[in-house]
Amino acid sequence: MKFDAQSAYRIEALSGQDRSSFDCGIEELNRYLRQQAGQDSRKGVAVPFLLVHRQTNVIAGFYTLSNTAVELTALPESLAKKLPRYPIVPATLLGRLAVDVRHRGVGLGEFLLLDALSRSLAASSEVASFAVVVDAKDQSARGFYLKFGFLPFPESPNRLLLPMQTISAMALQ
Ligand SMILES: CC(C)(COP(=O)(O)OP(=O)(O)OC[C@H]1O[C@@H](n2cnc3c(N)ncnc32)[C@H](O)[C@@H]1OP(=O)(O)O)[C@@H](O)C(=O)NCCC(=O)NCCS
Repeated sequence: MKFDAQSAYRIEALSGQDRSSFDCGIEELNRYLRQQAGQDSRKGVAVPFLLVHRQTNVIAGFYTLSNTAVELTALPESLAKKLPRYPIVPATLLGRLAVDVRHRGVGLGEFLLLDALSRSLAASSEVASFAVVVDAKDQSARGFYLKFGFLPFPESPNRLLLPMQTISAMALQ
C-alpha cells in the first residue's frame, strides 16, 4: 500500500452518511450508493461498507457483502475436486466495490478489498463460506481482481473467486 490509509480513513457500515457527492465515474454504481444501498441494507440483501475520510467525513469508496451460493460444476476443476460433492456450495459475494475518482491510485481500492476479504474470512468462521466471489463489470475491474489472485470461473470469465483458504494464508490484519 502506498500510504497509511488506516490513519487517514475508516471503514464503517452504511447508516445515515451523506453520499450525494460520491463519484466513481460509473453512474450505475453512483446511483446504487445514493439510492439503492440503504434499501439493500434494510432488506437484508447486502451490507454496504463505506470508506470515510476521518477529517472531512467525505465518502471515498464503498463495497458490499452478501451471502451467495455457487454450483460446484461451475468452479475451476482444481478447486471443485477438493470440495464435497454437494450441488451448490456457500460463498461470500463482494457485490460492488468502488473508489471515488478524486481518491484513485493511492491504494484505497486495495485497502477496501483487503478489508472486505478480512471481514469475509472472519464471518466464515461462524457462517461457512468457501470463497469470496466477484462479478467484474469490465476488463479493467477484472484486471484489478486478477492482480490480487482471484481465479476466473471457466465458463464465466468475468466472474472470479478467491478461496477462503488463500485469504486465510494472506495474513490480513
Ligand atoms: C478498480 C478500483 C477500485 C481501483 O481503485 P484504486 O484506489 O485506484 O486502486 P489502488 O490504488 O488501491 O490500486 C492497488 C493496486 O491495484 C492496481 N490496479 C488498480 N486498478 C487496476 C486495474 N483496473 N487493473 C489492474 N490493476 C489495477 C494498482 O496499480 C495498484 O498496484 P500497485 O500497488 O502494484 O501499484 C477503481 O478504479 C474503481 O473504483 N473503479 C470503478 C469501479 C470498479 O471497476 N469496481 C470494480 C468492481 S465492480
